[in-house]
Amino acid sequence: MPHLFDPLRIGRLELPNRILVAPMCQYSAVDGTPGDWHLIHLGHLALSGAGLLIVEATAVSAEGRITAGDLGLYGDANEAGLARVLAAVRAHAPIPLALQLAHAGRKASSRAPWDGGAQVPADAPGGWQTVSSSDVPHAAGEAPPRALDEAGLAKIRADFAAAARRAARLGFDGVEVHAAHGYLLHQFLSPLANRRADRYGGSLENRMRFPLEIFEAVRDAFPADRPVWVRVSATDWVEGGWDIDGTLAFARALQARGCDAIHVSSGGVSPQQRIAVGPGYQVPYAARVKAETGMVTVAVGLITEPVQAETIIATGEADAVSLARAMLYDPRWPWHAAAALGARVTAPRQYWRSQPRAYKDLFENAHFGQR
Ligand SMILES: Cc1cc2nc3c(=O)[nH]c(=O)nc-3n(C[C@H](O)[C@H](O)[C@H](O)COP(=O)(O)O)c2cc1C
Repeated sequence: MPHLFDPLRIGRLELPNRILVAPMCQYSAVDGTPGDWHLIHLGHLALSGAGLLIVEATAVSAEGRITAGDLGLYGDANEAGLARVLAAVRAHAPIPLALQLAHAGRKASSRAPWDGGAQVPADAPGGWQTVSSSDVPHAAGEAPPRALDEAGLAKIRADFAAAARRAARLGFDGVEVHAAHGYLLHQFLSPLANRRADRYGGSLENRMRFPLEIFEAVRDAFPADRPVWVRVSATDWVEGGWDIDGTLAFARALQARGCDAIHVSSGGVSPQQRIAVGPGYQVPYAARVKAETGMVTVAVGLITEPVQAETIIATGEADAVSLARAMLYDPRWPWHAAAALGARVTAPRQYWRSQPRAYKDLFENAHFGQR
C-alpha cells in the first residue's frame, strides 16, 4: 500500500490520507462574505478525495484582507455566508475542512492578481491604510504602512481570537494560522520588514513574540480537541532575511505552545527574493523542520506527480503534502494518484460509475446496478 494514502492524525483530527488541498484565495467575496463561487469552488474540491481541504486565507478584519474581494470572518454576515457554503459541502462530502486565518498587514489594499495585483492607494475605491510591524513599505515607491502600537497589536490579537471562535461555531475541523508569504505575522518574523525597537523587534525572540501571541490567542479560542497549526515561510530567499534557523526556532516555540503541525512554504516578504524554483523546491525545508522538531510536517510547492508525492512521504521528508495549482488544474488529482499508486479513494456515489475498467477497485464501497 502506498504511504500517501495512509491515514494521518493532526492532533486528534484523523485524515483519511496525506494529500491536502492547499489554501487558495479566490478574491471573489463581497465585504468578506462568500457567495455562489465559493459554493462551486469548495464544493468541487471537496469531492476531490483529498484528506483535508484548507479554505483560503480568511481575513480576521476588513483591513487584514489582501484585496477588497478577500474572504473574511470578522462579522455576522461573513459567518452566515460561510455557514451556507459549509452546509452544502458537508451535506455531500465527508472531507475534513480547515480554515486559514490571516492578516495581510502591509500587503493589504491590493488589486486582485487578474487586475495586476498592485497596491491600491488608501483614498481610492477598494483601498485603505495598511498596518505592519514597521512603517517600511513592501516595495520601493509604495505607500508605507502604519507601524502598529500596543493598542493596534491588542486589537489584532482579539480579531484572531474572535475569528477562531467563529470558525469553531462553523464546525471547522482545524485552523491554520497564516504566518507565511510576507503577510502580517511574517512581517514581524522577518528582519527585512521588522525594524521595531521595542520588545516586538530586534532579536529573534522579540520578532517571534507577536506571531506566538497570535498562535496562543487562536489556540485558546478554538476548541482544545480540534487542531491549530501554522503555515510558515522557511526562508525569505534574500540575504540577511528570515531563514531556516529562525524557522526551526519558531517551530520549536510553537511546538512548546501546543501547535499540532507545521506547513512549510517560503518567500513572499520581499520583491528582492530570488527563489530557486523547481519540482518540490520547498521540500528540503519541510524535511529539516520535521527531522529537527518531530512535528507533523506538511510539504508544499510544485508537488505535482503521484510518485513524487509518494516518495516524499515514504522517505519521511514530510508527513503530508499539500497541492494548490495542480489541484485546480486537475481537481480529481487524488483519484488519479490513487489509481497510479494502486490505492483506494472515497468518491461520491453519483460518480461511482466513472471508475475506469482498469481500476476496478479504486473507489471505496463502490457498487451499482441497473434493470
Ligand atoms: C490561486 C492561488 C491562491 C493562493 N492563495 C493562498 C492562500 O490563501 N494562502 C496561502 O497560504 N497560500 C496561498 N497560495 C499558495 C499555495 O497555497 C501554495 O503554497 C503555492 O501555490 C505552491 O504550491 P503549488 O506548487 O502546489 O501551487 C495560493 C496559490 C494560488 C495558485
